[in-house]
Amino acid sequence: MCGIVAYVGYREACPLIIKGLKRLEYRGYDSAGIALMAADGLTVYKKKGKVADLEATLEADTLSSHIGIGHTRWATHGEPNDRNAHPHYSHSRQLAIIHNGIIENYGAIKQNLQQKGYVFHSDTDSEVLVNFIEDIRKETFCSVEEAVRLAMQEVVGAYAIVVMSQDEPGTLVAARKGSPLVIGVGEKEHFFASDATPIIEYTNEVIYLDDYQIAVVRDGDLIVKNIENVEQSPYIQHVELELEAIEKGGFEHFMLKEIFEQPRSVKDCFRGRVNADEGHLVLGGLREYLDDIAKSERIVIVACGTSWHAGLVAEYIFEELARIPVEVEYASEFRYRNPIIKEGDVVLAISQSGETMDTLAAIELAKSRGAIILGICNVVGSSIPRITHAGAYTHAGPEIGVASTKAFTAQVSVLTLMAIAVARKKGNLHEDTFRRFLFELERIPDKIEKVLKNADKVKEISELFKDARNFIYLGRGLNFPVALEGALKLKEISYIHAEGYPAAEMKHGPIALIDEDMPVVFIATRDQSYEKVVSNIQEVKARKGKVIAVVTEGDKLIPTMADHVVEIPVTHEVLMPLLSVIPLQLLSYYIAVMRGCNVDQPRNLAKSVTVE
Ligand code: F6R
Repeated sequence: MCGIVAYVGYREACPLIIKGLKRLEYRGYDSAGIALMAADGLTVYKKKGKVADLEATLEADTLSSHIGIGHTRWATHGEPNDRNAHPHYSHSRQLAIIHNGIIENYGAIKQNLQQKGYVFHSDTDSEVLVNFIEDIRKETFCSVEEAVRLAMQEVVGAYAIVVMSQDEPGTLVAARKGSPLVIGVGEKEHFFASDATPIIEYTNEVIYLDDYQIAVVRDGDLIVKNIENVEQSPYIQHVELELEAIEKGGFEHFMLKEIFEQPRSVKDCFRGRVNADEGHLVLGGLREYLDDIAKSERIVIVACGTSWHAGLVAEYIFEELARIPVEVEYASEFRYRNPIIKEGDVVLAISQSGETMDTLAAIELAKSRGAIILGICNVVGSSIPRITHAGAYTHAGPEIGVASTKAFTAQVSVLTLMAIAVARKKGNLHEDTFRRFLFELERIPDKIEKVLKNADKVKEISELFKDARNFIYLGRGLNFPVALEGALKLKEISYIHAEGYPAAEMKHGPIALIDEDMPVVFIATRDQSYEKVVSNIQEVKARKGKVIAVVTEGDKLIPTMADHVVEIPVTHEVLMPLLSVIPLQLLSYYIAVMRGCNVDQPRNLAKSVTVE
């Protein structure tokens, strides 16, 4: 949440930072700002609204500068307005800060500063932090770097910050604890950003700053230190990210591009891991822990949102194939109770961003109790892969649309591979069954492609239901989490109220909602609960509900009952969610577009939730 970009080097800082902020806008988009250092000093420009609104105000007033900091905000403390936008000046206007995270003890620090005469112009914790740094400088006559270091010893919470100062005009000081910060190392130039996307156009060499580290660029040189002031030798990584992966590539929205990328992203996820001809399935990152997983008495999955839905799919698959009990927990609930975790338990964290605060905290808790922590993440180098014992990347590529699509299918893909590998290790899978799985997995990308060919059909259905005020999504077994995911997609981007239920639960309450205005989406593929779902469809039709059904190709029965059907190809029941979710992603996308919603940046949301 919140995106930060900073630059120091030989290029014009302003356009570079604005472009970088646009790339990070998925992290928050309620206000934006930039601070630049020019001959006449440090100036902050900021504005409520999108980065483009800020850019429009800068046009007439752009400063030439080779050093600057910028921010795109998702409000935590204080409503989105010009005052609360970042950067924040310190009291004397000598310093400016950009901050991603939350300072938990800001209240006490603020009170203390107010007693010393500091006046605050915003409601943010970030303005308190910059004044705290200023006060330390005043009291100890130290450099900005030293003041940031001393401040880090006092503040509680999460932060990625970059500070610039009027009296150290060529210097940027950055620090991190709990919020991501990447440094781009170029030729005579340095970049700071919340992720690598604003940087890769200029350099592929990056450093992922660790918690409690400070990075200082002074007169063109970068130094990284820890909180004890000891110089560190940071590891410079080469990132593989291609520029086209973070651009829309001709699609109207990132979300649509990402939905259509799924044949490729799932293929990328299987690449080097699945080979049906040779009969092998390898998950390199988990190899060492396969024995532990196979021997474990249970697996606890922690995740949030869409990743939690992927966890529910995994629960079915692991229990079915590997016969290991699985519990799927909301990370936010898990961390605040006293969960029963003992040494050797396997805790599996799932996260697209690898930065979700609640998931990170759940991992720390489970780790402190001796669990084996595994991670399934998409963003390479993010925090979760760095604190887990082992894991597997989903390799879906950057997901920029706020509503998660290709990350979900990639998570389900990796989790399925994991379950098959564990089942095989336990001797639960006969060689023939194993081979059949591999064969079928390799066909999934083409089958997704086939589902996408139905996009126009889904668009026609969307036109008919775009004005609905409520939706119900129903599925059984593996299609129940898919129903939850379909409902979440619709809610978050079209603002239509939607609920997902196990189809059989309908009779225990939700059936009261059914009338001729209620669209009910059934995920009714051919599986062991098919007949039961058919009965549930009849129950809805008997109450005049409108049925949209996702069915398996060749189904003759459901089309005679449902108002609309979308077909998906036949596959193994366990792999069905990889196909059945696609029409639901498309349905939510088209409805949102038809309602004039901002699909890639839905209101109130941000892609990576780095606050509690
Ligand atoms: C929904 C969505 C969110 C995320 C959730 C977890 O479309 O994107 O529900 O799934 O915030 O995020 P990650 O997976 O990054 O931990």
